[in-house]
Amino acid sequence: MRFTIGFDLDDKKKVFECWDEIITTHKWSEGKYTEQFEEKWSRYHNLDSVSFVNWTGAALAVIEFFKLKGEVILCPSNTFMATPLCIINGGAKVEFVDCNRDDLCMDVVDLKKKIEKFKPKAVCVVHIGGHIAFQIKEIAKLCKEKNIVLIEDCAHTHGASWDGVRAGAYGDVGLYSFYATKTISTGEGGMLVTKNKALVEFARKFRNYGKFDYVVQGINARMSEFTAALGCVQIDRLDDIIRWKNEYAKKHLDPKYPKRMIFPKGMISGLYKYIVFDPIEKSTGKVYDQPCHHFIKRDYPLPNTDWVAQNHWCVPLYYKGEEL
Ligand SMILES: Cc1ncc(COP(=O)(O)O)c(C=O)c1O
Repeated sequence: MRFTIGFDLDDKKKVFECWDEIITTHKWSEGKYTEQFEEKWSRYHNLDSVSFVNWTGAALAVIEFFKLKGEVILCPSNTFMATPLCIINGGAKVEFVDCNRDDLCMDVVDLKKKIEKFKPKAVCVVHIGGHIAFQIKEIAKLCKEKNIVLIEDCAHTHGASWDGVRAGAYGDVGLYSFYATKTISTGEGGMLVTKNKALVEFARKFRNYGKFDYVVQGINARMSEFTAALGCVQIDRLDDIIRWKNEYAKKHLDPKYPKRMIFPKGMISGLYKYIVFDPIEKSTGKVYDQPCHHFIKRDYPLPNTDWVAQNHWCVPLYYKGEEL
């Protein structure tokens, strides 16, 4: 299957109508589409939402809000380098936690050990591949007991849920990315989701240079109206994309790949990736083939992370993708 952006060409007209309106009304930033996109995203996730220029802008706001500069933040090594790099660029210290072999996400047993060893102020779970980390409930409970901030990296989990609960609702905050390869994309973009009203207020100021009282030392991390309008159309299409991918996978892929990732009861994966544990021809490769601790060197072993990097593959699965 050839790579396609998660976008229905039938939606082109709607997008162009919005863009036409944006151009003619001269409101290219901080307008009604930014608000609308946030409202739609909030409704879908049952959480408050703040849009950003990208995931990274939102993550920097979180590091500032929870005063994590100089503190240790734990994250998995099996993730995109954005996760640890953002921690470092935000002025915090990163240490790595091993993953599980079945879900590719953070292992709660190793997390307990790393909490004892590094005394972190925050943990960043990454929901790798489009499903919710299988141990997210245990991780959330542990973080609560230890008074540790729990950040969910939801860059892959558009449309995923577990017994109706969406990614981003388990921890203190969730961070979505709308980069071009994601299940739904706006080219670039990010969204912070949370129940924490003070964080919402802070994040709105942070992305806008702290306007207007400048108490928050912010940056420009705003989403443009053009991006937000595309986002409004994309969120309306999201359920259709998730349905299509899950039906396609069930009919065409599951019978072919018995050694695939199996989800717990009640979990709906957004299927950002279709993950199998056997080498396959015409794979799109790995979710990540180089764990982050190989780039940012650490002296402790992460055996499952190294195993996962060697032993999983992704079957191409793109919304209405053309079969080769
Ligand atoms: C797991 C993960 N975290 C963070 C990011 C960073 O997102 P952005 O490019 O929107 O800053 C990505 C993007 O590819 C990602 O896959």
